[in-house]
Amino acid sequence: MQASGPPPHPTIGTPVQPAADPGAQGSGDPRRIALFGDIHANLEALEAVLADSAEQGCNDYICMGDIVGYNANPADCLEKVREMGCPVIKGNHDEDTAGNHSLESMNPVAATALEWTRGQLDDEQRTWLRRLRMVRQIEDFTVVHSTLDQPSNWNYVTNRFDAMSNFSYQFTQVCFHGHTHVPRVYIKDGKVREVPAESIVIEPGSKYFINVGSVGQPRDGDWRACYAIYDLAHKLVVFRRIEYDIETTQRKIREADLPPMLAERLADGR
Ligand SMILES: [Fe+2]
Repeated sequence: MQASGPPPHPTIGTPVQPAADPGAQGSGDPRRIALFGDIHANLEALEAVLADSAEQGCNDYICMGDIVGYNANPADCLEKVREMGCPVIKGNHDEDTAGNHSLESMNPVAATALEWTRGQLDDEQRTWLRRLRMVRQIEDFTVVHSTLDQPSNWNYVTNRFDAMSNFSYQFTQVCFHGHTHVPRVYIKDGKVREVPAESIVIEPGSKYFINVGSVGQPRDGDWRACYAIYDLAHKLVVFRRIEYDIETTQRKIREADLPPMLAERLADGR
């Protein structure tokens, strides 16, 4: 597939700063931040998401972790994210790829893919993954791959009771996360409730814990790549679903001799 990446991205640091180049896309515009993660070495999905986010007028980017693992382009995805110069947080697959520890306790398919992934990256790339931070505060919100209560335990938030633990440690109004590969929105406004992952306005007096979904291996039954846009001026979060060249991704997985089910599951969005 012909690469279809976006024009060069404005480089941002921490906290998010306006683009340095006055002619760069979005310079001086209200911040429109693309939050994308759980890429899992799916280059076709990543390129499709970046192209869409550019079309959507995004002028800042945050990577939510799990750049690698499962699919066949870990080095390409790592370098593409790295060259963007955007904030990146660490996911569990980034950590497991960076380390040399045994993967015995992991499910066999994930372990096979991680072992393969370790061999695809050089020492410098693995060191870069190892040094990623678990949690970052950007503007007035927080980003974490799993949860704020124990980020390095990689807990999964699959219901409002799981979300309650996170809210105890969430000191910003909004926190974005990933990890489950399922876009979700939890709101704390007296009690904690879950609402559909559709467009949502951040209202005063409530807290929000928002899962931005997965670029490279969605698990909510929809095969299309998922990411979120946070429009800071309008306090609006929008979820995007983007088609990509899934056949190419599947072919690469098979050609790399990765477990075939990793190709099959992409089509099912599981
Ligand atoms: Fe993941």
